[in-house]
Amino acid sequence: MDDPVLRRLRASDAEDVLAAFSSAPDMARQGHITDLESAIGYVQRLSAAGGPFLAFAITVEDRTVGLVGITVDPGNRNGWFWYWLHAAYRGRGWGSRAAATIADWALDAGGLERLELGHRVDNPASRAVALAAGFVREGLERDKLVVDGDRVDVIAYGRLPTDPRPAYEPLPLVV
Ligand SMILES: CC(C)(COP(=O)(O)OP(=O)(O)OC[C@H]1O[C@@H](n2cnc3c(N)ncnc32)[C@H](O)[C@@H]1OP(=O)(O)O)[C@@H](O)C(=O)NCCC(=O)NCCS
Repeated sequence: MDDPVLRRLRASDAEDVLAAFSSAPDMARQGHITDLESAIGYVQRLSAAGGPFLAFAITVEDRTVGLVGITVDPGNRNGWFWYWLHAAYRGRGWGSRAAATIADWALDAGGLERLELGHRVDNPASRAVALAAGFVREGLERDKLVVDGDRVDVIAYGRLPTDPRPAYEPLPLVV
């Protein structure tokens, strides 16, 4: 399969977003998307002009199979970084390459001066993506989340423009 293309999320992606959220139980923590209506609302929120989100779809033949998002805090010129892929498209290195491509863009042309992310200690795939995208571990947030009734630690990361650039093969990006 050809490399995916990164482009802005748009309203017509709602059906693909619903398919992704229906593809694996671990998607439930990425948002409450259970039907087309909630998927449309999600896509509208993330792509609203003037809103706080930069949302980049990971696309194959212009169909969305994943997302890299940044929730921007403009006053501090920083952003909360997050990502997901439809289960059928995982394990190809796309999450890592997409995250690295968007993180580099955000700290260059995107004008942000700090990116942050966090993942549960028991999410090794997310950890691998964070490290592949050049994020630096900054700490452990103890008992941060409730998962299936248990409190779970979260590992916190940051990335600054002055941090070492990750080595990776960028994906095509249409800003
Ligand atoms: C996290 C996620 C985006 C990774 O996407 P992906 O495209 O499969 O990631 P990659 O193919 O780039 O793989 C990243 C690494 O994770 C590893 N990995 C994947 N699943 C794994 C697992 N269950 N256990 C251990 N390692 C795993 C891969 O082997 C790869 O390691 P490598 O770079 O050393 O080869 C995807 O699993 C996902 O959408 N998960 C659900 C949503 C989520 O957890 N988002 C992050 C919230 S913090």
